[in-house]
Amino acid sequence: DIARTPSTPDGNPEMADAPPEPTKAPQLIQREDYAPFAWLVPEVALRFDLGIERTRVHSALTVQRNARANTAEFIRLEGDGITPLEVTVDGEAINSWSMDDGDLMVPLSGDTHQIEIVTEIDPSANTQLMGLFASNGMLCTQCEAEGFRRITFFPDRPDVLSVYSVRMSGSKDQFPILLCNGNLKASGERPDGTHWAEWHDPWPKPSYLFALVAGDLVANRDTFTTSSGREVELAIWVRDGDLERTDHAMDSLKRAMKWDEETFGREYDLDTFNVVAVSDFNMGAMENKGLNIFNTKYVLADRATATDGDYDAIEGVMAHEYFHNWSGNRVTCRDWFQLSLKEGFTVLRDQLFSQDMGSESVKRIEDVRVLRAVQFPEDSGPLAHPIRPDSYREISNFYTSTVYNKGAEVIRMMRTMCGPERFRSGCDLYFDRHDGQAATCEDFITAIEDGAGLDLRQFRLWYRQAGTPKVKVRLEHDGDTATLHLSQDVPPTPGQPEKLPVPIPLRLALFDRESGEHEGEQLVILEHAQASLTFSGFAAPPVLSINRGFSAPVAIERDTPVEDLVFLAANDDDPFARYEAMQDLVVAYLRDAASGALASERRAAGQQAILSAFASAVTDEALDDLMRGELLILPGHSYISEQLAVADPLAIHQEREGLKALLGSRLQTEFAAMHARASAISDGSDAVARGARKVKTQALVYLAAGVPERAKEIAAAQYDTATNMTDRLGALMVLAGLRSPERTDKILDFYTRFRDNPLVIDKWFAIQAQSLHPDVIEHVKALAKHPDFNIRNPNRVRSLFMAFTGAPQGFHAASGEGYRLIADLILELDPINPQTAARFVAPLGRWRRTERDRATLMRAELERISKAPKLSRDTFEQVTRSLG
Ligand code: PHE
Ligand code: ZN
Repeated sequence: DIARTPSTPDGNPEMADAPPEPTKAPQLIQREDYAPFAWLVPEVALRFDLGIERTRVHSALTVQRNARANTAEFIRLEGDGITPLEVTVDGEAINSWSMDDGDLMVPLSGDTHQIEIVTEIDPSANTQLMGLFASNGMLCTQCEAEGFRRITFFPDRPDVLSVYSVRMSGSKDQFPILLCNGNLKASGERPDGTHWAEWHDPWPKPSYLFALVAGDLVANRDTFTTSSGREVELAIWVRDGDLERTDHAMDSLKRAMKWDEETFGREYDLDTFNVVAVSDFNMGAMENKGLNIFNTKYVLADRATATDGDYDAIEGVMAHEYFHNWSGNRVTCRDWFQLSLKEGFTVLRDQLFSQDMGSESVKRIEDVRVLRAVQFPEDSGPLAHPIRPDSYREISNFYTSTVYNKGAEVIRMMRTMCGPERFRSGCDLYFDRHDGQAATCEDFITAIEDGAGLDLRQFRLWYRQAGTPKVKVRLEHDGDTATLHLSQDVPPTPGQPEKLPVPIPLRLALFDRESGEHEGEQLVILEHAQASLTFSGFAAPPVLSINRGFSAPVAIERDTPVEDLVFLAANDDDPFARYEAMQDLVVAYLRDAASGALASERRAAGQQAILSAFASAVTDEALDDLMRGELLILPGHSYISEQLAVADPLAIHQEREGLKALLGSRLQTEFAAMHARASAISDGSDAVARGARKVKTQALVYLAAGVPERAKEIAAAQYDTATNMTDRLGALMVLAGLRSPERTDKILDFYTRFRDNPLVIDKWFAIQAQSLHPDVIEHVKALAKHPDFNIRNPNRVRSLFMAFTGAPQGFHAASGEGYRLIADLILELDPINPQTAARFVAPLGRWRRTERDRATLMRAELERISKAPKLSRDTFEQVTRSLG
């Protein structure tokens, strides 16, 4: 209909600016459609001629028909943004190949063939950071999940396992260090100023574990002798100048290697283990076989530039990647729907490791806090999915807290049900049975059933169903009997309206009010929708402590009397339960206060109970400071929002800040005394000194809310005298939320001190973007124009904009400006780095659970994004699901 064609002012319809077509839906991949690949690729030989702007890749594949798959007349070799320059089959150049949607189709008639392909890529133009890319003059790869196809044509799927031989060559000046998977076989120089290295990895692996690095790097070297006496060369590669900050990473690596031998019986299996730190990286780190690649954030630390939290994160991520050598590499995933097979299991393994390295209970509390802050909201929102998803359009969108953290919780429940020894037997059987294979979650469950002697038939539902189960708890007392009524309900999630009951292991104890003691903990497994359990011998109503240690990743719903919570907060012998009682006390208060459901009398009573619980947590001499610090952390904004069907983010924020102010002013003396006591503890990296630092900043947080004038002084002094980043950043964080000259001073001072250290400048951006300051939006806009802001660096983007989504008074500003800022970012970043852009959709996706006016604004931004032409698969999928 030409008449309707919009035309330009001069009326020429050919010049018309037709409204751009919205993006077409990319293909939906379904778990049920899995079929084995028609070909095996037992061997791969790669040759790389390296250059920042032009790298030539020669690939030789030995292929064999797969007897277990349907026959095919072609082999489909996946490609993404590359073109074949030459294709040969069995040594003969062919031109019967064709392209299908970026993939190379090669006709093959026999049972085994040799295929050779030449491609050329420009790493400097690779802003997605997937495939081969350049970072600060160095070349490196990221292939998980589907990055290898951006380097060469290949069956880029995790169930095709090959032995790789790689020859790499390039300018010796530019790339003095050449690294790849496996063991170094040979190297040499040529008169033209180039040099080369040949690497061989004897362990068959999927393409997503391939890695290569070339650059000007220096190494922190060490060795580790395995339990069977083999010596492994360890090296952590960084840029010159960063070497002094690699000791903690190396120490963590060695402890992880030892722990995995002792705890899981897993030994390392190559002569070398290399770790490389890169500053442009989409994720935390990557477990490439024998050549882990890390975000610098999870490698570099010294006391002046890294916080105690950074030290812990480095320890955890180092261990996580190392542990993948067995849970991920020796046994890999059949397809990407099985991602939790390696990630859930490996997260559990790194959590158990960190529990053993430091305080078990503090680590457990931290892990649960992350789960509740990130995974619970995901599980109750539009992006909810089971730990083993059923479909995806872009697999990068499924590297989620659900797959990782809930996945870990699900395996932890198995361990709780059978105990650590039987769990170990199950894991041994799993590794034994599936070594060298690409396995499924089902394989894992079966191995645990067989090896640990558990019946997990109904438990499998945890893999299939999304949504956080709600468990209702009611305790009745009559005569000398206490009756516990339990019921469960798994809420509907997108695509899953009906749910079945799941087995829920609940550790519980019944306390005698008088003695403050209980007669032993029990493990109860709630298998059905409802159950009632009786306990006799209680003349008076006992106090129930349930889901101790967070034995199941569920939401407990219970109207616990305030006095019972106060009792548990003071008496529970399970540290997690004690923390939980404090949280419950505050959550109940803030939930009711933020929804306007709190009459003034109950408000005063709630405040009183919280005040006295906090007062005893501040002063209790039996507590160590690390644990005290946990007890003093208020439940987070997102966890409180979770308690309400529809939340007003500003009301929650104001009530939460109001409570902080009340605590800070009423317990001013106690907090100031705690700060002074902790400041007198001598600096160090031991648990006592770490605990002291934790409570010092906690004290400042409350004082800043309650008595800001006093807090400014203490914070400024803490900043000025700090001898470590934990104290300095804690003080700066508090000052950043206040209007004061100290704020301006210290922010400038911090920048000047650390301007040459990108990881610290990331903190500088984040602290301002996530601050409590009323003008946070203006600050973020200004920071986005700062010369140090760089939209191509994912760490920097996250430190400004992800941090900002955590500032409720800014992100949720009634004007909608916060939402617009994030939507603008998504649109600008999507063509540059879709993986990172898509991660910003989730905060906007919470609209259904947000107060009406804001919901309208959030939705409008999502719709604006969805209408953009040429959206990436990543962003398209997240926006569509969020609007759905
Ligand atoms: N597999 C990595 C890990 O969890 C995460 C990752 C995924 C890194 C995709 C890069 C790309 O350890
Ligand atoms: Zn992992």
